[in-house]
Amino acid sequence: MNISPETFRAVKVTDDVYWVGAIDWELKDFHGYSTGRGTTYNAYLILADKVVLIDTVKRPFLDEMLSRVASVIEPGEIDYIVSNHSEMDHTGGLPEAIRIIRPEKVFASSMGVKALPAHFHLKDPLTAVKDGGKLSLGNRTLHFLETRMLHWPDSMMSYLAEEELLFSQDGFGMHLATADLFADRIDESVLRFEAAKYYANILMPYSPLILKLKERIAQAGLGIKIIAPDHGPIWRKDPLKIVGWYAQWAEHQPTRKAVVVYDTMWGSTALMARALGEGLQAGGAEVKILPLGKTTRADVATEALEAGGLLVGSPTINNGIFPTVADILAYLKGLKPQNLLGLAFGSHGWSGEGTKILEENLAAMKVERALPALRAVYVPTAVDLKACFDAGEAVGRRLA
Ligand code: FEO
Repeated sequence: MNISPETFRAVKVTDDVYWVGAIDWELKDFHGYSTGRGTTYNAYLILADKVVLIDTVKRPFLDEMLSRVASVIEPGEIDYIVSNHSEMDHTGGLPEAIRIIRPEKVFASSMGVKALPAHFHLKDPLTAVKDGGKLSLGNRTLHFLETRMLHWPDSMMSYLAEEELLFSQDGFGMHLATADLFADRIDESVLRFEAAKYYANILMPYSPLILKLKERIAQAGLGIKIIAPDHGPIWRKDPLKIVGWYAQWAEHQPTRKAVVVYDTMWGSTALMARALGEGLQAGGAEVKILPLGKTTRADVATEALEAGGLLVGSPTINNGIFPTVADILAYLKGLKPQNLLGLAFGSHGWSGEGTKILEENLAAMKVERALPALRAVYVPTAVDLKACFDAGEAVGRRLA
């Protein structure tokens, strides 16, 4: 370890639990998800009779994590490491941490004990824990809850019963670098925005599993006083607030918000988008117009999360659609937004395949087609633009 324990210090969460993670102020892109506010890689230390490290951090931050551990205890005093999730933002530092700490045991889910060696070619023995299994720490007990596909097949959560503290790994997290690690000290509008962005871009495809998880936690009668995720702030006051947000997003209830996403070659499709926006508003919808190339795909997904309408525009180019539009459709399709009313639009010069391809994509995403696609030749006429306004108004009325 190259960093003095006087430099990076642990943060007390409860009398026996410390945050020992790392803050990544520089991260602006997380495998294609724009993270304008950076992130944290949270790891936690439980000072029970058996000392436990919950998760580690991304590899470049290992010394920072070890420094924080060393501000409380010698890293070699850690008895167990629990890996709740195998993705490298939480395990990049694990092989080296095992080498330095030499824990008695390293625990992961049944899928985790397969994923970790595949990632790191680990020779160290790993111990699989069962869904619903318990691990005695002497004066404390850890419970394990498999949460497959939230976010990967190996994912699980750990619950420290005596503290009613849920270590929720990616679940209930957000990408938000902050020196203040507690949600109750951060502006709620920032929390909700970043939590929604995270949900939309990481967890939206698994919404049915989120709803089941909520039920499962309720049925198991697990009291939750603190939620300690692997990214972003810790929820120690009103932790059910973020659970409620997740439940709301997972239900995909359509709203009156219409998202108009488009790219344009010479301004014609942009003009159609603006005319649609005027009509949508006249019909009673809340309108978000998102020009691609100037809007990140993560921001489009975030807006789509709470939308009721998705209107997509592209000019025809080389018998296809604009690459930026193809990109966002591929991205959104993977995220599986639900309950959307849709409309395709775009200008073309001669062949005009663009809107047909857009409609095929919307159909593949199970977006309901509100009206036939709107098309304009080269530059929209006043009649074309009135048709856009009217179509927008009709869609707006259905959303309002
Ligand atoms: Fe934060 Fe799925 O890793």
